[in-house]
Amino acid sequence: MTRLKICSMPSHTKTQWAKLKRRWTFSGPDLLGYLLKMCRHSLGKIATVAVITSILSLVFILNYTENIQRGIAQRKNLDIKQVLNGPYVVARSLIQNVTTTMVAQYTSTTLSPELMAITPQPELNRLINASSKAKYPVTINGKYVFENPQLCSSVANLSVLIIVHTAPDHFDMRLAIRRTWGNDTFYRKMGVARVLFLLGQVGDSALQMKIEAEFKEYRDMLQGDFRDSYRNLTHKGVMGFKWITERCRNAKFILKTDDDIVINMFILFNRVLPKFENKTKQIVCNHIPANAMPIIRDKNNKWYVSENHFRGKNVYPEYCSGFMVLLTNDVIPSIFRAATMTPFFWVDDVYLYGLAPSHVPGIKYNSLTEHILIWQNALSCYRNMTANLNNKCDYLVTGSKRLRESEETWVEMMKQFEHRIGTDLSLRAKTHPDKRA
Ligand SMILES: *[C@@H]1O[C@H](CO)[C@@H](O)[C@H](O)[C@H]1NC(C)=O
Ligand SMILES: *[C@@H]1O[C@H](CO)[C@@H](O)[C@H](O)[C@H]1NC(C)=O
Ligand SMILES: *[C@@H]1O[C@H](CO)[C@@H](O)[C@H](O)[C@H]1NC(C)=O
Ligand SMILES: *[C@@H]1O[C@H](CO)[C@@H](O)[C@H](O)[C@H]1NC(C)=O
Ligand SMILES: *[C@@H]1O[C@H](CO)[C@@H](O)[C@H](O)[C@H]1NC(C)=O
Ligand SMILES: *[C@@H]1O[C@H](CO)[C@@H](O)[C@H](O)[C@H]1NC(C)=O
Ligand SMILES: *[C@@H]1O[C@H](CO)[C@@H](O)[C@H](O)[C@H]1NC(C)=O
Repeated sequence: MTRLKICSMPSHTKTQWAKLKRRWTFSGPDLLGYLLKMCRHSLGKIATVAVITSILSLVFILNYTENIQRGIAQRKNLDIKQVLNGPYVVARSLIQNVTTTMVAQYTSTTLSPELMAITPQPELNRLINASSKAKYPVTINGKYVFENPQLCSSVANLSVLIIVHTAPDHFDMRLAIRRTWGNDTFYRKMGVARVLFLLGQVGDSALQMKIEAEFKEYRDMLQGDFRDSYRNLTHKGVMGFKWITERCRNAKFILKTDDDIVINMFILFNRVLPKFENKTKQIVCNHIPANAMPIIRDKNNKWYVSENHFRGKNVYPEYCSGFMVLLTNDVIPSIFRAATMTPFFWVDDVYLYGLAPSHVPGIKYNSLTEHILIWQNALSCYRNMTANLNNKCDYLVTGSKRLRESEETWVEMMKQFEHRIGTDLSLRAKTHPDKRA
C-alpha cells in the first residue's frame, strides 16, 4: 500500500516538523519578575526598593486576603537569605510558591555500581563548551514551585508515567490530553497511566494564579523554579528526570511527549510496551543516527547554534526527536546522574536524548519511525471510516493544536480499537471498562 510512502517522511523533515510544531514563547508581562531580580541583585538601592514597594502595594491591594495567608505560610518555607521584607514575601508567593524540596544527594557512599559507571567525558565537555554562567542545567539542584509528590507513589501497578512538556499558557491543550489519550479510564484494563505536565516560571502573576488554580484542581503538574522559555527546555527535561528519580520509581515506563501530540494508547499498550516489558536501559523513539542531523550555523535560523558549541562539527551525535520518547524507567536515574556531568546545551532533544544518555553504559536506542504521521493526514485517515475500521490508520503518534481535533482523533482511535476487539479474540480480554458486550 502507499500508506507508508505517503505518511512517512525522511527523518530530517520529521524532526523539523517536530521542532516547528512547538512554539514556546514567554508570554505575559515580566515586569514584576524583572523588578524582583533587580531587587535581589541590588539590595542596597533605595530607588529599587521604592519602585518595588509601590508595585507591591498595588499587587497587595488586588490580591490581599489569600495572599497574606499564603505569604505567612510561605515565610516558613523560604530560605531566610531570600527574604528581604514582608511585602517581598507576599509578592514572591504570588509568582512563585517555592517548596523546599530536598535535592537528592548523590554522594559516593550512596551511589550504586550502576551510577558509579557513569563518568564524565572530557572530549564531549570540550565540544559542548557551555558558558560559565549556566554550566549545568539549573534544575539539577532546582526547587519546585509546586509538585504532587504522591502522583506516582499513590498508584498501584503504574505502567506508564506520561511526561508532557507544556507551555504555561496552554490550558486548552492540557485539558485536551486529560480528556482524551492521557485519561486511562479509556484503557484501564490494558494498564495504568498517569500524566505529569512540566512547566517553568512565568513572570505574570495573573497567569501564575490561573496555573496554580489548575494545579489545585488536577494535581498533575510540576512547576520548576526556572523561567519557562524556548531556550530553557533542557532545564525542563532535566527537571523531569530529577522528579522521576526522586518520586516515581514505581512506573515501569516513562513516555515523554509535548502538549500538541496525540498518542494511540491502544497501539502503545498492545504492540509497543510488550516488546520492552522485560528489558532494561531502552529508549524507543524517532531515532536520529549520529552524523545525520546538521548543526544549523545560519544566524537567521531559529535553530542557530554558535560556533562556540561543537566547534568544527557540522552534524550532531545520535539523539531522538522529542515529540515522543519512550524509556524504561530503570534508566532514568542514570540519565539524571549523567546530566550532572553534561554541560548545558540548549537544544533539548540533543541534550536530553543524546548527550546525557551517551554517558550511560549499555543504553539501547530503538527506532520507531514507521508509525509517525503528520497530523492533518492522521485526522483525515481516522475520519475515513473505511480506512479507520480496516485498521489502515494504525499510527502510534500524531499531533494536533486544537482541543476539538485532538478529541476527534481520539474518538476515532477508540472506534478503531473497539472494532478490532470484535474481530481479534486476543484483544477481548483487554477491553476498556466502558466497552459494552
Ligand atoms: C496489581 O497487579 C497485580 C498483579 O498483576 C494484581 O494482583 C493486583 O490486584 C494489582 N493491584 C491493583 C490495585 O490493581
Ligand atoms: C477521564 O475520563 C472519565 C471517563 O470518561 C471522566 O469521568 C473524567 O472526568 C475524565 N478526566 C478528566 C480529567 O477529564
Ligand atoms: C503554596 O504553599 C502553601 C504553603 O506551603 C500551600 O498551602 C499551598 O497549597 C501551595 N500552593 C500550591 C499551588 O501548591
Ligand atoms: C532560563 O532560566 C534561568 C533560570 O530561571 C534564567 O536565568 C534564564 O534567563 C532563562 N533563559 C532564558 C533564555 O529564558
Ligand atoms: C516477561 O516476563 C514475564 C514473566 O517472567 C513473562 O511471563 C512474559 O512472557 C515476558 N514477556 C516477554 C515479551 O518476553
Ligand atoms: C568556548 O566558548 C567561548 C565563548 O563562550 C569562546 O570564546 C571559545 O573560543 C570557545 N571554545 C571553543 C573550543 O569553541
Ligand atoms: C478512504 O479509504 C478508502 C479505502 O482505504 C480509500 O479508497 C479512500 O481513498 C479514502 N478516502 C479518503 C478521503 O482518504
